[in-house]
Amino acid sequence: MPSEIAQKTNRIPEKGLPKNTILNELEAKLQRDLTYSSGKILCSMCTSPHSFAKQIYRKYLEKNLGDPSLFPASVELEQETVSMLGSLLSNPKACGGIVSGGTEANIIALWAARNLAKKERGEVVVPVSAHYSFEKASDLLNLKLIKVKLNSSYQMDVKAAEKSITPETVAIVGLAGSTGLGVVDPIRELSEIASAYNIYLHVDAAFGGFVLPFLKELGYKPSDFDFSLPSVCSVTIDPHKMGLAPIPAGGILFRDTKMCEAVSMKVPYLAEGEMKQSTLLGTRSGASAVAVWALLKHLGRAGYRDVVERCLGLTWKLVEGIQRIDGLDIVTMPTMNVVGVKSDTVDVPLVFRELRKRGWAVSLFVDYLRIIIMPHTKLSHIKCFLEDLQRILENLKT
Ligand SMILES: Cc1ncc(COP(=O)(O)O)c(C=O)c1O
Repeated sequence: MPSEIAQKTNRIPEKGLPKNTILNELEAKLQRDLTYSSGKILCSMCTSPHSFAKQIYRKYLEKNLGDPSLFPASVELEQETVSMLGSLLSNPKACGGIVSGGTEANIIALWAARNLAKKERGEVVVPVSAHYSFEKASDLLNLKLIKVKLNSSYQMDVKAAEKSITPETVAIVGLAGSTGLGVVDPIRELSEIASAYNIYLHVDAAFGGFVLPFLKELGYKPSDFDFSLPSVCSVTIDPHKMGLAPIPAGGILFRDTKMCEAVSMKVPYLAEGEMKQSTLLGTRSGASAVAVWALLKHLGRAGYRDVVERCLGLTWKLVEGIQRIDGLDIVTMPTMNVVGVKSDTVDVPLVFRELRKRGWAVSLFVDYLRIIIMPHTKLSHIKCFLEDLQRILENLKT
């Protein structure tokens, strides 16, 4: 929590305030937040949820997946959702859950890997490009992250990964859509290594899970990353990113129930102690899972394919525009709708700050800017953004 917020003291009013007073105050206070509709958010992996998903979410707000004895039908829908996501990732028999996001999904995956290895501590081989949720997981689970360098294509270096394996290794993690550049690691090769050393392989496709399967259908040639590779044990796939679902909606999918059971715990006070949970959270949003279920059915594969096609089309426009600006270049040709922008002539953090002054929210990685073209982005936004970027570069050079 930012310290300036934490320092303010706030009290619950003794007497409740009228709804209108509160609504007005909220409107005024929330003015400072950015909106997706402004087109200025070019740094988020989330987007404005699909209107049908919002409608469903609002309708089923009281559902609690943490209590299957009260909400058995919601839990069944969650399992159907997991199976639909599994079918997208070449394994309709996958088990798992709709969780709070990619962070929880990654923590659960490493939790399962550690338990399956029957160890209380151990090592996890990850690329240096891995999301910081793995740092959280390692801290919580007594696991040491062994960070592996990248090759010249910004993918995990497979030889270095293999060399990092020790008797303490409980898992290897590969990315199918890195946070910084949307790069896909060589998961096929990682799968071969995992099989040779009999090690758990987790794939973080929090972002790419809703992109890569559709890219393939659109004629692109993304490399394999999912359960079609025999040693992939679990995959993170987040509906609240490119799946257009309301937050919170992450997904953790395991190849089979044995893996899922490695993290399941009996709930002592439900169903005479016979009910099990396999998630980090207890009380969980049923509305999230039901909204994802409904949206998968409503958009269908064709609907998601269209979303991906549109985002990719705009991504190429952005790439062309950036390459036309003197002093800027892309870090690497994008695999998906994530673009890294670098410069050899101007100070990248300065460009970032100048963009922010003009209201644009992009992300600053150490030496490049990351731009994500999400479904809320329109061609007109990209044109305005490129014009501002051009002006900033001209000013910085003079
Ligand atoms: C590859 C990857 N994994 C996991 C996460 C974490 O997801 P969440 O913010 O939903 O917890 C992110 C977030 O951007 C991500 O890019």
